[in-house]
Amino acid sequence: MSSVEETPKSRVLVIGGTGHIGKHLVFASIRLGHSTAILVRDTTPSDPAKVELLKSFIESGAALLKGDLLDHESLVKAIRCADVVISAVGPRQVKEQPRIITAIKEAGNVKRFMPSEFGSDVDRLNTVDPAKSLYAVKANLRRLIEAEGIPHTYVACNSFAETYLPSIGDVTAVGAGPPSNRITVLGDGNSKAVFMVEEDIATYTMRAVDDARTLNKILYMRPPANVLSHNDLILLWEKKSGRTLQRVHIPEEEVFNWIKVEAAFPLNILLSLALSIFVRGDQANFNIDPTIGVEATKLYPDVNYTTVDDFLSRLL
Ligand SMILES: NC(=O)c1ccc[n+]([C@@H]2O[C@H](COP(=O)([O-])OP(=O)(O)OC[C@H]3O[C@@H](n4cnc5c(N)ncnc54)[C@H](OP(=O)(O)O)[C@@H]3O)[C@@H](O)[C@H]2O)c1
Repeated sequence: MSSVEETPKSRVLVIGGTGHIGKHLVFASIRLGHSTAILVRDTTPSDPAKVELLKSFIESGAALLKGDLLDHESLVKAIRCADVVISAVGPRQVKEQPRIITAIKEAGNVKRFMPSEFGSDVDRLNTVDPAKSLYAVKANLRRLIEAEGIPHTYVACNSFAETYLPSIGDVTAVGAGPPSNRITVLGDGNSKAVFMVEEDIATYTMRAVDDARTLNKILYMRPPANVLSHNDLILLWEKKSGRTLQRVHIPEEEVFNWIKVEAAFPLNILLSLALSIFVRGDQANFNIDPTIGVEATKLYPDVNYTTVDDFLSRLL
């Protein structure tokens, strides 16, 4: 561990800690020794899975603070108890995050804010709606954070493994498990994408929390073993599973048409995200500019990240 990480551990507040990436952030925060609080809308939920999750947070030593992103007083009160605020609110709530900026300014104690990004670098994307608008909301929030002079780190972890890998990168079949005969490939399938297992995203994010090298920077996650094209991914799966898949290529123009004319939610959003990731190669088609960004596996080489190869073995 480098000396920059040996300062006392910041107190962390996670907003959206019960969500898909949020829960991993909470557990990583606790694991790495941070005093951890979670802003929770409902502390006595009816959903049994949520009850179990909240119970495991408390048993692990986290504090539940009742509050809501839409309730200013509760937000300020929770933020006053933290040094670092991490937002992991979902895609539907990202547009409400200026409320966090207002609360951070009022509280006046925050050393660092990590907004809910957890995807591609929002300043480097080349796609169409609906993903284009979602990314624009996240990019506008960056501009607001910078204009208000709020210390920050933007987490550009790229593609979640649990979203994209179970269908072997086929966004037309998310949730269906690995394909048995045919697979849809957008474009020629040769652009490189980056896949990250959620637990590792959380570990790298929490390592960055008190690290001066990541202050006011983009924390990119680009583990060398996890930078693969869709074609690479399919070949890897074929070798592992012993199956041969028929590739059905959809040319870029047809993907546009599909998004605009035919695809309903959520396929339209998945296709517009995939256009950027798998066709345009927006996650890996640039060198990281060291004046604005750092790469997580280079900063923390001791973290033993899960490779795509390892993750696919779990699907067998
Ligand atoms: N890179 C990728 O492949 C990828 C994939 C998916 C998402 N993402 C990004 O990751 C980020 C997090 O998304 P996610 O899918 O993990 O989120 P999610 O599962 O939808 O979770 C949303 C969280 O926000 C909380 N929340 C909702 N409304 C709230 C409110 N009014 N006040 C306080 N908390 C509220 C929810 O709490 P409740 O339990 O109370 O509902 C939940 O904890 C987003 O920026 C998203 O775009 C990236």
